[in-house]
Amino acid sequence: MQKPILVSGIQPTGRLHLGNYLGALKNFVSLQNTNKYECFFFIADLHSMTEEFTPKEKAKQIIELAADFLAVGLNPKKATLFAQSAIPAHNELAWILNTMTPMGELRRMTQFKDKGGDQETANVGLFTYPVLMAADIILYDAKFVPVGDDQLQHLELARTLARKFNSKFGKTFTEPQPLLTQTPRVMSLDEPSKKMSKSRPPGCIFMDDSPEEIHKKVMRATTDSESVIRYDIQTKPGISNLLRIYSSLSGELIPDLEKKFAGMNYSELKIGLSNLISNYFAEFRKNKKEILKNKKGIISALSAGNKKASKISAEKIKKVKTKIGLI
Ligand code: ADP
Ligand code: TRP
Repeated sequence: MQKPILVSGIQPTGRLHLGNYLGALKNFVSLQNTNKYECFFFIADLHSMTEEFTPKEKAKQIIELAADFLAVGLNPKKATLFAQSAIPAHNELAWILNTMTPMGELRRMTQFKDKGGDQETANVGLFTYPVLMAADIILYDAKFVPVGDDQLQHLELARTLARKFNSKFGKTFTEPQPLLTQTPRVMSLDEPSKKMSKSRPPGCIFMDDSPEEIHKKVMRATTDSESVIRYDIQTKPGISNLLRIYSSLSGELIPDLEKKFAGMNYSELKIGLSNLISNYFAEFRKNKKEILKNKKGIISALSAGNKKASKISAEKIKKVKTKIGLI
């Protein structure tokens, strides 16, 4: 029997951070390792072109993200790893879906508004970004899409478009469902009301940060003046964020952590957390360095995935065109 299909992508826009890891990437690895899904993980290089870049930078970011995928444990033998731009069907389907998407729905997208997409000077790619994302997903008939919660609105559009196409042209696509982790939104260490993001470097821990960098950022994390280590999102967003990160990396439950750190001060929690993060990613840092020494190996892993994704998606787009009446 065919396993349920799982698809997700990450944009190559720089180093990955703890939010990317706990919200998405950690789940990619564990879902892959259950062997219960047919997994497709890709580098969303076309999406990443909606932000400023230079060709040299982009090529480096793509290789680096592929190295991140491999270093964290995504395995080309277990999952199809590929680059979005290598697969023409993504764009072909995106165009078809563009013709079925009302402008009003795209204008409502939070990410579009946050990125200033409604200004006259913004590129049109930012506007149609969610349509390409819908194409990425439904092209493979994904049942599940592991993402952080900032992507839920986009995923809802993918569901709507799959449904719309099916009702207009007959059953063709599967409606995808999101898969969230226990930490679908990791908050910034310095501003715990905002999500962790590389655009706020002081509050952002990168997966390949050195132990010294990790220590510096964690020790400076914003807390509160109560001096009690207890989980309370409303009144103690900073400490609660640290406890949540601690819990996701160590596997200990938050109430158990509250007991473990009872009577201790904030700097003891911070030292514990910074050691935990440093140790947790030690193997990743080592793997990534090794993998980056062999760029040819990275490219060949991707080309094998590209080949497989091209074949599957070419068959699907052919069916889609037939349904529409394109001959
Ligand atoms: P960024 O948001 O840093 O630009 P991407 O848009 O490429 O990164 O996101 C890659 C994945 O990481 C997505 O599934 C996204 O939802 C998830 N993600 C990003 N930031 C966070 C965060 N702070 N907490 C949880 N998940 C996140
Ligand atoms: N928009 C996603 C992000 O910013 C990246 C992405 C592109 C994606 N296409 C996708 C995620 C398809 C899941 C499925 O994180």
